[in-house]
Amino acid sequence: MTHLRTRAVHAGQHPDPHSGAITTPITQSTAFDYGTLAQGAALFAGTAEGYRYSRFGNPTVAALEAKVADLEGAPAAVAFASGTAATSAVVLGLLSPGDEIAFLGPLYGGTEALFRSMGERWGLRAVDATQQGLAASLTPATRLVWVETLTNPDLRLHDLAEVVALARARGLTTVADNTFCTPCLLRPLELGIDLVLHSMTKYLGGHGDATGGVVAGAAPLVAAVRKTGLAHVGGNLAPQEAFLFLRGIKTLPLRMAAHCAGAAAVADFLAAHPTVRAVHYPGLPTHPQHALAQRLLQGGFGGMVGFELARNERAAAAAVLDALQLFAQAVSLGDVDSLACHPASTTHSALGAELRAAHGISEGFIRLSVGIEHPDDLIADLARALQHAV
Ligand SMILES: Cc1ncc(COP(=O)(O)O)c(C=O)c1O
Repeated sequence: MTHLRTRAVHAGQHPDPHSGAITTPITQSTAFDYGTLAQGAALFAGTAEGYRYSRFGNPTVAALEAKVADLEGAPAAVAFASGTAATSAVVLGLLSPGDEIAFLGPLYGGTEALFRSMGERWGLRAVDATQQGLAASLTPATRLVWVETLTNPDLRLHDLAEVVALARARGLTTVADNTFCTPCLLRPLELGIDLVLHSMTKYLGGHGDATGGVVAGAAPLVAAVRKTGLAHVGGNLAPQEAFLFLRGIKTLPLRMAAHCAGAAAVADFLAAHPTVRAVHYPGLPTHPQHALAQRLLQGGFGGMVGFELARNERAAAAAVLDALQLFAQAVSLGDVDSLACHPASTTHSALGAELRAAHGISEGFIRLSVGIEHPDDLIADLARALQHAV
């Protein structure tokens, strides 16, 4: 199985040994009968492999972990109840009090809030390396370097090869949140990143009906994250949700192609519109990192588009967003349905005005998650709504 499209369908999937079912069944059981005391003891000692209790592992969840590991080119993966649970498991599993996380922002607001609030209460320091650069932000206490493969909401990229080179020279662990790109566009582990993380809630699930997260990478790192995240924090993914992700991922490459084509058409339309002063889309030749995007991303530039209204005020953004009919006003992303949001008042409201200004998130900034509807219908909806921007 060399093609991603084939692996998205088949990886992690084995006909059920009892029934022959092709689709991985939902194993809705909390406990597993291990048969003998000796086997139970071995499972708990970690000297035997098998299922004992769903918080530690479940066959439906394991199939999903195998599928994501395959797509990301990872030896191992562990799934969680949300992207945020995955992030917490990495932070709590790999760091100790006194350690620092250097991150290149802007990050998803919840991740940054987690680093700054929970992290700092646990004696971890979060260092925002966005302005002064990674090299200048690393200290002897830095342990982890955190990046998002496409930043939210301004859709910038980081040169991952540079990040890896800097981190490796100092023995640091690198984590890339690949939620926005998915393994269809970018596989960070192939570039030397140590751990890749997803909010599966977004493109991997793709249908806006399940919450989940996953971390993939080298087996010892994943084992440490698994132990903390499942045995100690208890953030395990439920088997019914795992089933939805297994089903969703089968169409991920097809959906990503449609998201990318739709977003490119929407970005072109917005770039030519008189009420729009800037469009943030890495596929546009005007994007400051278009060349880097062409180098890093395969098969498209993603399904997210950010744009700023010429009338750069919250009232103008509200008038446009409230007039949209096809785009739902909602904060998630990566669904087959198109979604639109105002980051300054929602996803990035907790950052505060100063940090938002530093990240270029103005009051007239609108973020679109372009779904798989026909781009002409999406553009017609935007054209109608933008009449309210003047
Ligand atoms: C890039 C990114 N990472 C992580 C998360 C957190 O994921 P979840 O909402 O599944 O906890 C999000 C959520 O929006 C996100 O956009």
